[in-house]
Amino acid sequence: MLGLGEGTSSLRCYAKAPAKVILFGEHWVVHGGRAIASAIGIYSRVIAESLHEGIVVESRNLGVVEDISKRCRIFCNLKKAFEYIAGGDRVLWPASIVIDSEVPVGAGLGSSAAVAVSASAAYACVGGLSVSPDFISRAAYESEKVVHGTPSGVDNTVAAFGGFILYRRGDGFKPIHAGRLDDVVILVIDTGVSRSTASAVEFFAGRLRRLGSIGKEMLELAENIIDEALKAISSGDAVRLGELMDVAHGLLNAMGVSHVSLEKAVHVARANGALGAKLTGAGMGGSAIALVESSRADNVASSLRELGFRVYNGALGAAGLSVASDV
Ligand code: MEV
Repeated sequence: MLGLGEGTSSLRCYAKAPAKVILFGEHWVVHGGRAIASAIGIYSRVIAESLHEGIVVESRNLGVVEDISKRCRIFCNLKKAFEYIAGGDRVLWPASIVIDSEVPVGAGLGSSAAVAVSASAAYACVGGLSVSPDFISRAAYESEKVVHGTPSGVDNTVAAFGGFILYRRGDGFKPIHAGRLDDVVILVIDTGVSRSTASAVEFFAGRLRRLGSIGKEMLELAENIIDEALKAISSGDAVRLGELMDVAHGLLNAMGVSHVSLEKAVHVARANGALGAKLTGAGMGGSAIALVESSRADNVASSLRELGFRVYNGALGAAGLSVASDV
């Protein structure tokens, strides 16, 4: 059993975990289809240090500090993850945890999971424990349950493992081998339009039911898009991937989960040279993504910013959790 202060003398650990986007298959995944998610190079970074007492969590972004060693109010999600890391009846060890995340909150980028993965890894590292992506992803899932109820687990999986992930409800997560896609980036375009995931999911389900055989054919088409996207990712064919994103967006639009702000975003991105663009996540607001050659990213981003969108830029298929330490 680890007691307070034991085995943790003046160790400092640094952990970094990426955000995620759903590239293909949102909504269809609720109805038995597959989805593809990718890590993007927008990160949560955490520095953990051993302390003599307390577990002091500070979020630089939220401007809040809380000692969660006894009671918790703000960071109870992280406390759950730390308890998972400590395991069974092990006592939590004292540490300071400083979170500095560039992942926007509420934009569908898995911000809470990126923070949970990086904070869990930094905390485990300071306690001298395993920081394997699998272990840390499981710990972060405990945090995600506090934040989101019964999440699919895709956000913590992508934040921990990075790269591209294929998933179907009930089937778990499979890594996708990717070819070279390092001369393109993903722009995340936050429309600022708030929406409810639950009502978008309900609207989509209602239309799918009413469409009957047409809906079934659209689901088949969405599955064909996934097959083609898997090939494009494996061969590093960014042009093909962009075209498939446009088609996937068209299907989601036809299902009624786009929004005038999303249409504006995808059209402006394409008109300024994006290889493809689509809504990501639940739609009806929220964010769109555009696949853009790195050399054009600044131009496309500034034309979107001129329209009032917030735009974030990150590498596609970015690496997952990384941890370093010094004594
Ligand atoms: C929301 O981010 C993604 C949806 O497919 C819902 C879900 O998978 O739970 C719309």
